[in-house]
Amino acid sequence: MSKALMARLDRLLANLGYGSRKEVQALVTSGKVIIDGKPLKDAGVRIAVDATLPERMTIRGAPVDPPAPLVLMMHKPLGVVCSHKEDGEKIYDLLPRRWRLRDPALSTVGRLDKETSGLILITDDGDFLHRVISPKRHVPKTYLAKLDRPLAGAERDIFAAGTMMLDGEDKPLLPARLEVVDERTARLTITEGRYHQVRRMFAAVGNHVIDLHRERIGGLFLPNNLEPGQYRILPAAEAEEVFGDA
Ligand code: URA
Repeated sequence: MSKALMARLDRLLANLGYGSRKEVQALVTSGKVIIDGKPLKDAGVRIAVDATLPERMTIRGAPVDPPAPLVLMMHKPLGVVCSHKEDGEKIYDLLPRRWRLRDPALSTVGRLDKETSGLILITDDGDFLHRVISPKRHVPKTYLAKLDRPLAGAERDIFAAGTMMLDGEDKPLLPARLEVVDERTARLTITEGRYHQVRRMFAAVGNHVIDLHRERIGGLFLPNNLEPGQYRILPAAEAEEVFGDA
């Protein structure tokens, strides 16, 4: 069960992006915020906040947005960027508008390239984010790569050796696991997150990745029924499965 924290109603709603403190005070006094079936009239009241809040509270007749901490699993489509700063369509544009105003803000857990699709986690929980991307944890990530040229045969051993150097780097890559799917398709599991790592690994063995798709992060797999651009909220216990053995 999630732990309930106490929060002032006006601060909670402002942090969820429902407006300035003044605006949310007006919302409350006009009777549009209802908890357990009763309108709240005092914006300064302290309420218990946990993951069940959307089942208990409505705002203008709709369930309140899920409070922090929030972890989402998304099927990142091709062509959107994970950075807040880069030009182009952003992964955050696929979320409800109001969620872009949340404080703490939502961020992707690591990044996928604009032209990579697949599983990505999005969270406002800095501790969770850092635990997933920590180089000490070696959380495995599995990618399906379609290649321009047939595999030569030596790639599995080269990637597994733990001695491979990428251009411009001075530390060898940790061992990575390659599974051959067909002559131009491979499944690669890495435990680091270096810049363009999968594409650079195949480039280093004379190949070229034409399609890249992430299938899993740790114990979390992209479900078949999550279409590109769709996301779902992960309950805390399910989010922790990212640290499970897979
Ligand atoms: N490796 C890449 O080259 N690109 C990604 O998006 C992820 C891993």
